[in-house]
Amino acid sequence: MKPSRGKLPISIIVIVLCIFAFVGVLYKEYTRSLSSASLLKLSPCSKKDFIDSTRNSESDEDPDDIDAEEKADFDPNMCDITKGKFDPIAALEKLRGKRLMFVGDSLQRGQWQSFVCLVESAIPDGQKSMKRGRSLSVFRAKDYNATIEFYWAPFLVESNSDLKIIGDPKKRILRVDSVAKHAKNWIGVDIVVFNSYVWWMSGLQIKSLWGSFANGEDGFEELDAPIAYRIALKTWANWVDSTIDPNKTRVFFTTMSPTHMRSADWHNKKGIRCYNETKPVLERGYWGTGSDKRIMNVVNGVVERMRVPVSFINITQMSEYRIDAHTSVYTEQQGKVLTDEQKADPQRYADCIHWCLPGVPDTWNQLFYAYL
Ligand SMILES: *[C@@H]1O[C@H](CO)[C@@H](O)[C@H](O)[C@H]1NC(C)=O
Ligand SMILES: *[C@@H]1O[C@H](CO)[C@@H](O)[C@H](O)[C@H]1NC(C)=O
Ligand SMILES: *[C@@H]1O[C@H](CO)[C@@H](O)[C@H](O)[C@H]1NC(C)=O
Ligand SMILES: *[C@@H]1O[C@H](CO)[C@@H](O)[C@H](O)[C@H]1NC(C)=O
Repeated sequence: MKPSRGKLPISIIVIVLCIFAFVGVLYKEYTRSLSSASLLKLSPCSKKDFIDSTRNSESDEDPDDIDAEEKADFDPNMCDITKGKFDPIAALEKLRGKRLMFVGDSLQRGQWQSFVCLVESAIPDGQKSMKRGRSLSVFRAKDYNATIEFYWAPFLVESNSDLKIIGDPKKRILRVDSVAKHAKNWIGVDIVVFNSYVWWMSGLQIKSLWGSFANGEDGFEELDAPIAYRIALKTWANWVDSTIDPNKTRVFFTTMSPTHMRSADWHNKKGIRCYNETKPVLERGYWGTGSDKRIMNVVNGVVERMRVPVSFINITQMSEYRIDAHTSVYTEQQGKVLTDEQKADPQRYADCIHWCLPGVPDTWNQLFYAYL
C-alpha cells in the first residue's frame, strides 16, 4: 500500500468539518448492523479546540517553543454528542482518582479526542480543563480528580521524527531499541492505551538504528516494516514487563486503524481512494489492503509472550467497512482547512487515513468502555 502523496503520516491533523446528516444516518445503520444495540446518537462536534494541526504538521518550529502550553478552561462548545450506551458519568466514576492515557499516533489522538468528547458534557463548566503540550495533552475532570491524556509517540520507540516531523519517510530513522525517553512519561498512569501502525506503512524499508543518536544518524540498517515493527514492539513490551505493575496499571492496545487508499479493494474501479464514498462496504468480513495482516500477527505474537496482561481493543475489522467515514477532503493541510481548489483535487488531498468525529473512533471507545 502506498500511502497518500508519499507523506501520509504528516497529516496528523484530525478531522473537523465533516459532519453531514448522511454520516449520522449511515453511522446509525452501521452500528446497528454491528449488532451493538443503540450506540451513539450523533450530532455535530465542532472540534475547533481540538485541532492540533500546527503542532503536528511539518514545521520548523523549535520543539522547545511549544512547551508553552495553553491552559484554558475547557470550551464546552467543542463537542456535543448525545450519548447512547456510553454512559459518561459511569465512565468518569471508573476513572475517579485515576489517570487514563492514550499513547501513540494521530489515530490514537482521534480516539482520545473522541473519549474526551464522550464524557465532557457530563462535567459542569469550570470543572474541566484542557492543557495542551507538544507531546502531552491533558484533559482534567476536576471533581473526579481524573485526567484523560494523550501522549504523542507515533512509533512508540524513539525516532528522529517524533517532535519535528520529517515529511519524507526516507529520511526517518528509528531507534528500535530505545523507548525510555517516551516511556518515562507513562509511569504512574493507571490505565494506558497504546497503538502504533500507520507510520510504519510508508511502503519503504524502515531505517533502524541501535543505540543512541549521539554518534550521528549513521549506522542504521534497513529492515522490512514487519521486522522493524517486531523489534520495536519487543522493546516496548520489555519496558512494560519490567516497569508496569499489573496490579496497579491496566494496559490496552488498539489494533490497526485501516486506511482506505485503494478503491479497487472494494471494487470501485473509478474511485479515488475513499473520496465520495457514502456507504460502508457491506461484504461481511471485508478486509482491504489498508490493514496489514503481518503487523497484526506481530502484535499478537509479541503480546502473547508478555508477563503483563494487555487487552486488545480490536477495532480493525469494524473499521474496515467504513470507507465512507474518513475525513476525505474535509480536512486540513498545514493547519488550514482545504481550499475549494484543493477539495477539487481529491487525488492529491483526500485523507483516507483519519476519521470524522463523531464517528468511527466513538465506536472504538464504546468497545473500550466495555472493558473499563
Ligand atoms: C488525585 O489522583 C491522584 C492520582 O491521579 C492521586 O495521587 C491523588 O491522591 C488524588 N487526590 C485526591 C484528593 O484524591
Ligand atoms: C498482585 O496481587 C496479587 C494478589 O494480591 C499478588 O499475589 C501478586 O504478587 C501481585 N503482583 C505484583 C506484581 O505485585
Ligand atoms: C463526487 O460526488 C459529487 C456529488 O455526488 C459528484 O458531483 C462528483 O462528480 C463526484 N466526483 C467524482 C470524482 O466521482
Ligand atoms: C483482531 O480481530 C481480527 C479479526 O477481526 C483477527 O484476525 C486478529 O487476529 C485480531 N487481532 C488481535 C491482535 O487480537
